[in-house]
Amino acid sequence: MKQFLNLGYQPLANSYLEDKNLNKKEKKFKLVVGFNPKNFLVSILNTVPKEQMFNKNYPYKSSESLTMRKQFKTLASYIKKRFKPKTLLEIGSNDGAFIKNFNKKRVIGVEPCKNLADITIKKGFNIYPNYWDTTLAKKIIKKNKVDLIYSANTLSHIKNYSEIFKAVNITLRSNGILVLEDPSLLECIKKTAYDQFYCEHIYVFSGIALQKILDQFNLQIFDIENLKTHGGSNRYYIKKKSNLSISISKNVKVNFQREIQYGLHKFSTYKSFAKKVSKSKIKLKDIFDKLKKNNKKIIGYGATAKSCTVLNYCKIDKKYFEYFYDTTSYKIGKYLPGTKIMIKKYKKLKVNDADYVYLGAWNFKDEIFKKEKKFIKNGGKFITHIPSAKII
Ligand code: TMP
Repeated sequence: MKQFLNLGYQPLANSYLEDKNLNKKEKKFKLVVGFNPKNFLVSILNTVPKEQMFNKNYPYKSSESLTMRKQFKTLASYIKKRFKPKTLLEIGSNDGAFIKNFNKKRVIGVEPCKNLADITIKKGFNIYPNYWDTTLAKKIIKKNKVDLIYSANTLSHIKNYSEIFKAVNITLRSNGILVLEDPSLLECIKKTAYDQFYCEHIYVFSGIALQKILDQFNLQIFDIENLKTHGGSNRYYIKKKSNLSISISKNVKVNFQREIQYGLHKFSTYKSFAKKVSKSKIKLKDIFDKLKKNNKKIIGYGATAKSCTVLNYCKIDKKYFEYFYDTTSYKIGKYLPGTKIMIKKYKKLKVNDADYVYLGAWNFKDEIFKKEKKFIKNGGKFITHIPSAKII
């Protein structure tokens, strides 16, 4: 592993602070990112034990985002049509936003965050409140193997990927399909979206790196879709190599070539990305400093884990902000880790609310700009750092 980026000491991105522990010392870890020239994998180098991140207090609920709800619904119909699975398993089923589109008797969810697992268990779904590993896979197949495994934004959270794919191979039928969806490294690098890196995002995958890993487990990507979610993601369709009945789409080669052309297989690409990140930090801090000097009222929109990386790295804290707006019930009334900015319950933006709104949830820009049409029409301004730090 060759280190290329140092994002400083960071708190755990989803450890929102309550009033009572505002003055307590927060746990911090050094957020450094590296590249493995052998398998092209990009990952953070100091990881936090999973139990500290994925437990009964996990704040992120997929169902609270309209974009995600819509996308899961469309994907569920597509999967039913294209693969006709009789049984389906989701790794990281969260609060059920995806599996609710299927017949309860035909789906299995795996969700280690107990607060989320409980939501779906109460609704009568078959949920294993466990981490995904080979022990669990062996337990599951005592009943039956499955036709399709789906996992979105979960693979990048699991350090031991060997365990993931061994467990997939145990659970999946020989002609079964694995569908994985995660942020795209190409989009992350192109957009200087360094906030894809935080404690939970151990890996940001490129297609070429993922295939190198899959090779070790006799798995093959046969199709790739490029998605807009989470700032640019890829959906990978994967089969067992022994299954010759499915051919490999041209898409796969096209995506791999695009990544190679951009240099995702070369360390120098990541070094120049790191330089852009430093510049972005200076520019963003400069924008905030100028606005603060002119006594401008700034609020944040979407208290995301990504904002945690940006604000802590750029040292932009509660001095600059009035508060953040967020729709997630768990976050409301708490404070952003590290920067200690208060989070308030979201209300539709009014011009008097703020002079400038920092777009923490930049990955939902389209959805947000649609919602806040009136604020924008009346001259409301946003600050963003993607693809470069600026006021829009
Ligand atoms: P994510 O980037 O990790 O998906 O988190 C998105 C966060 O942004 C989540 O806490 C909800 C918040 N959010 C809003 O507050 N308002 C919105 O309109 C949207 C789309 C998201």
